[in-house]
Amino acid sequence: MSRLIISGPYKFNDEIYVQGAKNSILPILASSIISRGECIIRNCPDILDVHTTIEILHYIGCKVKFEDSTICVNSENIVKNEIPEDLMRKMRSSIIFLGALIARTGRAKISLPGGCELGPRPIDMHVSSLKQLGVSVEIINGCLDFKIINKISEANISLPFPSVGATENIILASSICKGTVTINNASCEPEIVDLANFLKKIGVKIYGEGRNQIKVQGANKFHGCEHEIISDRIVATTILGAAATTGGAVTLKGINCEHLDTPISVFEEMGCFISKEKNALKMSAPEKLLPVKEVRSMPYPGFPTDSIPIMTACLCTANGVSILVENIFKNRFRHVEELCRFGANIKVEGNIAIINGVSHLFSSNVEAKDLRGAAALLIAALKSHGTSTISNINFLLRGYDLSKLIPKTIYKLEL
Ligand code: UD1
Repeated sequence: MSRLIISGPYKFNDEIYVQGAKNSILPILASSIISRGECIIRNCPDILDVHTTIEILHYIGCKVKFEDSTICVNSENIVKNEIPEDLMRKMRSSIIFLGALIARTGRAKISLPGGCELGPRPIDMHVSSLKQLGVSVEIINGCLDFKIINKISEANISLPFPSVGATENIILASSICKGTVTINNASCEPEIVDLANFLKKIGVKIYGEGRNQIKVQGANKFHGCEHEIISDRIVATTILGAAATTGGAVTLKGINCEHLDTPISVFEEMGCFISKEKNALKMSAPEKLLPVKEVRSMPYPGFPTDSIPIMTACLCTANGVSILVENIFKNRFRHVEELCRFGANIKVEGNIAIINGVSHLFSSNVEAKDLRGAAALLIAALKSHGTSTISNINFLLRGYDLSKLIPKTIYKLEL
């Protein structure tokens, strides 16, 4: 079993260049197959989910090269339109190949995606939206077979919830539409804007990205492009969380501060001092953090669901009681039991975590259960005195390039 051995405490006093966004690079890699040319994508994070996506791209026939945070994808010769179950199951983002394969080949044969066990993660909105575009779906031996019946047609789709994945799949499938597809109640996340910017470069016309109504006008000619991935706002929040918890200071470089507005206001409520610069942010933390009244996860621009576990770790040693409410996924608090092994006092009631700040944490041996929960355990280990071990650390490596997060001298990685 993979594990991370870490010696705490570690007080941040670093300048960190934040890695490229996982939730941008994965859909952009998938959609590179629509280009039929060569796409050069910069600022790519070296994380497991990127390597899984590259495996899928190789499987369907692309040539891919990953060197020094730049990925070149050549998708001239696609030879398959199905994705094997073992690759689909490795991560939730594999579902974005659905829209990309439909646009490129007119057909996609996939099984249900995997990813973190955050509770039920249905794809009913993806399926019903694609049907509205003229895509049929059949279930054969547990495998979903999507096919364009005539051609992708104009549509006016209203999502019951601003699902990130469904918005992305509709945009991708619509990239070959003759006419306009309108998506109402679309996701406004910065990673959707990044995807739209990439698609515009390969030839698709998109309007309204970043707002809740997006319009896509398809194209019949596409070409390769060069693109730079935006920085990862969840990784940025993780670093801020680690610096805040350990009473340190940190400068984040290469970021877009606007994407961090909501988390920044929470760190300020916790007593941290933050100053924003162009593409950079400085934070220094007090010796003891203040508790927060209530933080609720909401679709962007609300507080991100991915950062809720980070906050559970930060608030463990705050000076009082804090409340966190998770509104997107049922099982966001699976890591809390493990956090309590560090000495945290947290009670979970349904989708609410009540955190009673304690004076200190002690080192422990714990097990990661999902990606962001693993990041919370890492923060607790950095705060504790002594050596801690986090097993199943592959969960963390799905989304974080550890070597860019903390100094190599304080940890040992056993894979
Ligand atoms: C979600 C997060 C995204 C985060 C990602 C990884 C939101 C709105 N989305 O994106 O910020 O980066 O997880 O952790 O915060 N749903 C359905 N049917 C569907 C699709 C979704 O019921 O067809 C439900 C999900 O179960 C979930 C909610 O809608 O409760 C949000 O899902 P969605 O935004 O699609 O999830 P992801 O794309 O994984």
